[in-house]
Amino acid sequence: ARITLRQLLDHAAENDYGLPAFNINNMEQALAIMEAADKVNAPVIIQASRGARAYANDIVLKHIIDAMVEMYPHLPVCMHQDHGNSEATCATAVQFGFTSVMMDGSLERDAKTPASYEHNVHVTKAVSDMAHWVGASVEGELGVLGSLETGEGEKEDGHGFEGKLEMSDLLTDPDQAVDFVKKTNVDALAIAMGTSHGAYKFSRKPDGEVLAMNVIEEIHKRLPNTHLVMHGSSSVPEDLQEIINKYGGEMPQTWGVPVEEIQRGIKHGVRKVNIDTDCRMAITGAIRKVFTETPAEFDPRKYLKPAKEAMTKICIERYQQFGAEGQA
Ligand code: G3H
Ligand code: 13P
Ligand code: NA
Ligand code: ZN
Repeated sequence: ARITLRQLLDHAAENDYGLPAFNINNMEQALAIMEAADKVNAPVIIQASRGARAYANDIVLKHIIDAMVEMYPHLPVCMHQDHGNSEATCATAVQFGFTSVMMDGSLERDAKTPASYEHNVHVTKAVSDMAHWVGASVEGELGVLGSLETGEGEKEDGHGFEGKLEMSDLLTDPDQAVDFVKKTNVDALAIAMGTSHGAYKFSRKPDGEVLAMNVIEEIHKRLPNTHLVMHGSSSVPEDLQEIINKYGGEMPQTWGVPVEEIQRGIKHGVRKVNIDTDCRMAITGAIRKVFTETPAEFDPRKYLKPAKEAMTKICIERYQQFGAEGQA
């Protein structure tokens, strides 16, 4: 059944687990998530970015969600707008059946330039009022994601600011988080705590802590009723890099967020963990393998089926690793 983010994350908080939120752009990705969740009996958060909505078409996406809910009536499913950039994006998401929206007011409408705190509060409160009137949940974001390693804001396939930032800008300030939630009444809050979007998070194998666990702990302590969200949480598994490169890909070596770090975050109040890159890599590796091993093949099912199965495998692993197995 369709359910809001608030309901799902309240349950996760009461039972001390985290939920992966996987991005979709098409039918195969939606099926991969549902097959994984069904296998391990986990609650589901599916999210679509603005790019996903443009790619798939809102009407197609709406019917994909309806189909998933109808196919798996025993699983709670939340459909979430990832990185909404305006009131209009969030409002139309709800019209198309989303039960939760992220208003990312940490960036200006261009989704590139860091926004003022006042802009963030203003636009997030407007979306929060609108969503709560119609029974949807809201995620806000405070702080700019970027690399603590280089002090750089996001670039390339990540979203947002390009160029140098102060280290302090890359971590969410707990005092400001308290003020932000009071003013906006969001259900969930994405915080900057050392992750960035995309595959290229760390250029060396992380040894020890990569997340600002003290920031997570402090914000959770002061906002126990606001569910914390970790963006940029792909682990960028080495075996998937190897598969992609073995079959003709050219991904430079890179490291993501270790699963153990995410598990520690979950112990300190992180409830929603956003994952897109790992799924993209699983799909790409599987497709490259078919193309390389059977170059005469041209039936899309021959590569889309293994692609879907590779994504299902990642999703199952994350549900289990975050403690969501058996929680549906
Ligand atoms: O945070 C971004 C997600 O990975 C979605 O990416 O905007 O390329 O669809 P996208
Ligand atoms: P990754 O690029 O680490 O998968 O992060 C996805 C994300 O945060 C979507 O909002
Ligand atoms: Na989101
Ligand atoms: Zn994100």
